[in-house]
Amino acid sequence: MSTDFKPYQRADDFGTPVSASNREVKLTVDGEEVTVTEGTSVLRAAAVAGINIPKLCATDSLAAFGSCRLCLVEIEGAKGLPASCTTEVRDGMKVRTQSPRLADIRRNVMELYISDHPLDCLTCPTNGDCELQDMAGAVGLREVRYGYDGANHFDAEKDKSNPYFTFDPTKCIVCSRCVRACEDVQGTYALTIDGRGFASKVAASQDQPFLDSECVSCGACVQACPTATLTENTLIEKGTPEHYVITTCAYCGVGCSFRAEMKGQEVVKMMPNKDGHANHGHSCVKGRFAFGYATHKDRIKTPMIRETIHEPWCEVTWDEAFTFAARKLRGIQEKYGRDAIGGITSSRCTNEETYLVQKLVRAAFGNNNVDTCARVCHSPTGYGLKATLGESAGTQNFDSVMKADVIVVMGANPTDAHPVFASQMKRRLREGAKLIVIDPRAIDLVRSAHVEADYHLPLKPGTNVAIINAISHVVVAEGLEAKEFIEQRCDLDAYEDWRKFILDERNSPEAIEEETGVPAETVRAAARLYASVPNGAIYYGLGVSEHSQGSTTVMGIANLAMATGNLGREGVGVNPLRGQNNVQGSCDMGSFPHELPGYRHVSDPKVREMFDKEWGVEIGADPGLRIPNMFDAAVAGEFKGLYVQGEDVAQSDPDTQHVTHALSSLECMIVQDLFLNETAKFAHVFFPGSSFLEKNGTFTNAERRISPVRKVMEPLAGLEDWQATQGLANALGYPMNYSHPREIMDEIARLTPTFTGVSYAKLDELGSIQWPCNDKAQAGTPTMHVEEFVRGKGLFRVTPYVPTDERTSRKYPLLLTTGRILSQYNVGAQTRRTENLKWHDEDVLEIHPHDAEQRGIEAGDWVGLQSRAGETVLRAVITERVTPGVVYTTFHHPESGANVVTTDNSDWATNCPEYKVTAVQAHKVTKMSEWQRNFEEFTEEQIDLLRRARTGAEQTVD
Ligand code: SF4
Ligand code: SF4
Ligand code: SF4
Ligand code: FES
Repeated sequence: MSTDFKPYQRADDFGTPVSASNREVKLTVDGEEVTVTEGTSVLRAAAVAGINIPKLCATDSLAAFGSCRLCLVEIEGAKGLPASCTTEVRDGMKVRTQSPRLADIRRNVMELYISDHPLDCLTCPTNGDCELQDMAGAVGLREVRYGYDGANHFDAEKDKSNPYFTFDPTKCIVCSRCVRACEDVQGTYALTIDGRGFASKVAASQDQPFLDSECVSCGACVQACPTATLTENTLIEKGTPEHYVITTCAYCGVGCSFRAEMKGQEVVKMMPNKDGHANHGHSCVKGRFAFGYATHKDRIKTPMIRETIHEPWCEVTWDEAFTFAARKLRGIQEKYGRDAIGGITSSRCTNEETYLVQKLVRAAFGNNNVDTCARVCHSPTGYGLKATLGESAGTQNFDSVMKADVIVVMGANPTDAHPVFASQMKRRLREGAKLIVIDPRAIDLVRSAHVEADYHLPLKPGTNVAIINAISHVVVAEGLEAKEFIEQRCDLDAYEDWRKFILDERNSPEAIEEETGVPAETVRAAARLYASVPNGAIYYGLGVSEHSQGSTTVMGIANLAMATGNLGREGVGVNPLRGQNNVQGSCDMGSFPHELPGYRHVSDPKVREMFDKEWGVEIGADPGLRIPNMFDAAVAGEFKGLYVQGEDVAQSDPDTQHVTHALSSLECMIVQDLFLNETAKFAHVFFPGSSFLEKNGTFTNAERRISPVRKVMEPLAGLEDWQATQGLANALGYPMNYSHPREIMDEIARLTPTFTGVSYAKLDELGSIQWPCNDKAQAGTPTMHVEEFVRGKGLFRVTPYVPTDERTSRKYPLLLTTGRILSQYNVGAQTRRTENLKWHDEDVLEIHPHDAEQRGIEAGDWVGLQSRAGETVLRAVITERVTPGVVYTTFHHPESGANVVTTDNSDWATNCPEYKVTAVQAHKVTKMSEWQRNFEEFTEEQIDLLRRARTGAEQTVD
């Protein structure tokens, strides 16, 4: 099992947060000299010296509150007994933490708490891991003089409404750590202390059950609670953990670090790691609670094969599956040529797995037909940032946002898709940073508790380039550009060309007002705000990239950042918020058909030579097929074999009917996944995948941070994913003999200049590393382009706005745009198999009241949604979050068929699909669409074929 296991113990808690000051202060605590920084509390200074002052209301993730009076100390020369958590250190201070008087007071305080606390420690789920219990011991409380007969809260009812945690008010000591965690850490403000004195109690929203309140189930309050009042249900069921391993969340691109706290091979809790550089001890509902999919009964644990997709599956050994797959693939190549097969890597898999799949394709398949799901999300980011700044990645770390004065959020919805980063961003906004939101919808950030956008630019879908150009136009026309920065850091010829272009009247806010729907004055005001502050930071998401001009918008954003000098230091930058956990990594690892690892073009003979030598083959110089080209070639009968690792193209890719036509045209499709996903229903070979808990490797998050993924349980199907790829390579006659993913990382480091300093040993030492990590930056690179851009001079690119071909018409008068929701993740294969379904059990269609009324649609009606590509039916939600003329849905449930409607329009440079703009009509209907009926039929058939393979065992698969 894992050698990384550590015996379970609660993470150290220094009582109050670390101070930001650099100035040192010296004091003595119980005669010990301690040096800390100015602003540190006495409580923390003592903890630094290894002296634990009793405390209850203080914890180092929250500002001190000073309510419990347990942490009192004596300070020489000071009156009374100050609370050490709210008292800051001073030079020469002499602190005494123990004396008979202090001991008396502390015992009295504890006595009062315990007199209104059920005495059920032995049967309490947190017995042995409870701060109240620890403090009773620490102050030497042996008896409670008041007895237990007075007024108490023992009859208060438990709130079990949240599927993941229980609130037991009988154990509450009203320390308000939960309330402060919800406010300061999460930024949701769902909790309050209701009432006064004895009647005071914790209340969610308007004293509602947690599930019905504004609570987003992040778990920060549960983590902060020092008693068993707020407790994870898994802990109640399984008991206290025995050991833990540090690993990384397998959901979104924030890449939160966790302690997987275990009992044997079972996860008891996923506890956000306080030392995690991306999350600093916070998490969202997915990472903390939604891990049950990993052991869900739908997991397929045995390799399977079949000749055609209408035959029952046949369970086989791994070796039989490898031999079958290899025979099929080689047979196809003999019959149709070497280029008739390819592979798709996954942004959900580790760097090592992704690297191995592209190596398999290039070295064992003998072509460059490898692509990744990043094709359909952030490929324009890679193109646009490389073309302007010289590197296909975001420029900052997440912490940089804490120095931003203006934050621009464009085409992203961080509170749903990148929740932990959104909490950090909201903290900065509460500190006074300004906010500009550019999005067709009024996302939560536009107005939520204690956060309000200074400007919301609700542009029509498809007009990003026009808006970003107009903002730059104002900057240049009003002389707000950073002239010195441009002169020193940018290519001046390119700048002059761009300047001439951007000053053209067609790029003015007034000229684009009608096209974008955003008042010119709002654009002007937003531009002035962004350009007028010392630090302006831009964060963007798929609402920028998934357009026919996705790459152009990314370049437009880079132009704007260069023009205002907002690059190369903390607090600024161009920051793509990557959707899945390893989008950055899958791109870094050479998943694109034209690029080897490290974004080096396959046509470069020097680069190929390096790989040829290491891999013992000759790599082709021509780029291979992109995913859409593979599908087109399959439909044309020229492409016949595909290996898909951890992706569900039948659900996630646009124009579903075209995709499924392509998949049904293949003679051999190998799918490697945890579940029989939509794509696997068209497969001939199924390699059962391993979840993030069952393997070793690394993920790279949106800030280029490489973080360890560590095995906490044996793979349910016997092999880690990289081992399956290796098995297939060997069966194809191409030898791979890695014994651990660390050897794969060593090979990546040997071949990739930005990774030369990366190793598992360094990851263990530093916790995580932001690439580039090499001789020049041995501990990694938090901020890129500091002295100069990676490409030398920053290159302004002319970015003319070209309206998408996907225009509204009389037949399709509305624009559909798609997105995500907090509780679900991507195609939902994981989150639909958890209690997260409670928050989102179907995809719905958001429609503005005006558009709904025109069509006679009422809330909850079934609505037929029709585009040029296809038709599906969704339930209506009527809301002003969308503007008139725009409808919105998510794509987390396969039967909703959101991608039946999206078209095959795509980004001109990268083929990234234009998910965000589809002209549609919506009308009230009473039955599901034809596609949905066919889908249901096909799904039933495939489930039956799976059931028959399982030798009659009673299994259900959704
Ligand atoms: S629920 Fe826990 S954290 Fe909140 S006030 Fe009660 S004891 Fe304190
Ligand atoms: S789970 Fe998160 S959002 Fe819900 S009450 Fe607790 S801290 Fe607030
Ligand atoms: S924010 Fe993202 S990485 Fe962090 S816990 Fe949530 S899903 Fe996981
Ligand atoms: S820990 Fe200082 S007053 Fe509670």
